Amino acid sequence: MAKVERTQPLQAPKGVSEYFPDRSRTFEHVRTSLITAAKNSGYELIELPVFEDTELFKRGVGESTDVVSKEMYTFEDRGGRSITLRPEGTAGVMRSVIEHNLDRGQLPVKVWYSGAFFRAERPQAGRYRQFYQVGIEAIGLNDPEIDVEVIAVAERAFRSLGLKNYHLEITSLGDRESRARYTTDLRKFISTLDLDEESVNRAEINPLRLFDDKREAIKSAMSKAPILMEYLTAESAAHFERVKELLTALGIAFTVNNRMVRGLDYYTGTAFEFVHHDLGAQSGIGGGGRYDGLMAELGGGDLSGIGFGIGVDRCVLACEAEGIALPENLSLDLFIVPITPSSKTLSVTLAEQLRDRGVAVDMAYGDRSLKGGMKAADKSLARFSLVLGDDELASDTASIKNMRTGESRSIKISTLADDAENIFK
Ligand code: HAM
Repeated sequence: MAKVERTQPLQAPKGVSEYFPDRSRTFEHVRTSLITAAKNSGYELIELPVFEDTELFKRGVGESTDVVSKEMYTFEDRGGRSITLRPEGTAGVMRSVIEHNLDRGQLPVKVWYSGAFFRAERPQAGRYRQFYQVGIEAIGLNDPEIDVEVIAVAERAFRSLGLKNYHLEITSLGDRESRARYTTDLRKFISTLDLDEESVNRAEINPLRLFDDKREAIKSAMSKAPILMEYLTAESAAHFERVKELLTALGIAFTVNNRMVRGLDYYTGTAFEFVHHDLGAQSGIGGGGRYDGLMAELGGGDLSGIGFGIGVDRCVLACEAEGIALPENLSLDLFIVPITPSSKTLSVTLAEQLRDRGVAVDMAYGDRSLKGGMKAADKSLARFSLVLGDDELASDTASIKNMRTGESRSIKISTLADDAENIFK
C-alpha cells in the first residue's frame, strides 16, 4: 500500500479557550448552573448575533476603553461595512431592545444570554481572546431592589456551583449630576499631573479611566485623586444605601470598593465585581452594574438598566481550583458491555429501548474483551454497568453493577426497560 503523506496538523488561533471531554463536562455544568440561576428569577433568553455594526460598540462601550480602542476584532465585510465581533453583550442587548421595541411592554425587560465574546487581549491564564459569558440584563426601571436581584442571581449562581473562595465588591458610580460635579474636580486634579500624551487623551474622553492604569507612577498619583463616592447626590447616595441595606438583609456579604473602575464606559450608579481568591491576576469571575445613559446613547428612550456578565471560563477554573466535584447526575446511567457476537444485537436494542425511556445509555463497540469493555465503562463514569454474554442471553438474567458502590444485583433482561424507572432512579 502506498504510504500516505501526513500534512502538518493545524492549531487553534492563539489565546482561544476550548473545551473537549472530559473537561467539557465541567464547562457544561457551569454554564447550565449560571443559566438556571437566571431563569429562576424570571429572566428569558435573548439570542443575538456574535457580530454587530462596529459603531454600536464605539458608541455603547466607549472609545476611551481598552476594549474599544485596542481589543476589538474589527473587519470589513464583503459589502464594505465595518463589522466587529462582540466584545461584550450589553450593547447588543440594548440595540435589540430598541430595534424591536421590547421596552414598550411590561417593565423591566428581563433577559439572559450565553455565548462567545471576543477581545484581542494578551492571552494568559484565565484571559482569552475568545471567551464565554452568561449574562443578564434588567431594563427599564431604576430601583435598588432590581440592583439587588441582579447581584443575588450571580451570588446564587456561584453558590449553586459550590464556590466559596470569592467575595463581592460594590460601589456607586453616581448619576449624571453626581458624575458631572465629580469629573469637573477630577479633571482639575488630573491637569496638575505630568502625564504622557496617550493618558491625556484617554482622560479627555473619560477621566475615570486613569484609575485603571496599571503603571506605578500613575497609580500612585491617582491615589490622591478625589473620590466619586464623596460627590454622590442625595438621591444617588440614598439609592446606594438601600442597595447595601437589602444586600445585608439577604445575608449577601460585600465590601465597598470606592476606587472600582469598570472596564466599560456605560456604567452609572451601582457597580459590582465578584473576585475569586485562587485565580491569580485574572480574578474577576463576574461583574456588572447599572447603565443609565446607554439606551439614549444608542438612539432609544431614556430608560435605565442593570446587568452582569459572568465569565464561564473563569468559573470553570475557580471550580477546579476549589476542587469541586461534578454532580453524579451529569454522567450516563448505564454502560453496556457485550462480550460475545450474539449479545451485540441484544445490547444495541436494549440500549435503544432504555434511551426511549429517558435512560442515558452508552455501550462498548468493536470487539472488546471483558477487561477492555469494563475499562470503557469506568471511563464513561456511568452509574451502572451491564455485561452481556451468551450465558446471560440464554438465562434472560444478568447482573447490573453499581459502579459507585461496587454492588451487583440480578435483573431480568427482557423486563429491564419496563423496570427502568425503578432501577435507574
Ligand atoms: P466585563 O467585566 O468586561 O463586563 O466582563 C464580565 C466577565 O467576563 C468578567 O468578570 C470575566 O469573568 C469575563 N471576562 C472578560 N474578559 C475576559 C477574557 N478576555 N477572558 C476570559 N474571561 C473574560 C461585561 O462584559 C459587561 N457586559 C457586563 C454587564 C452586563 N454589565 C452590565 N450588564
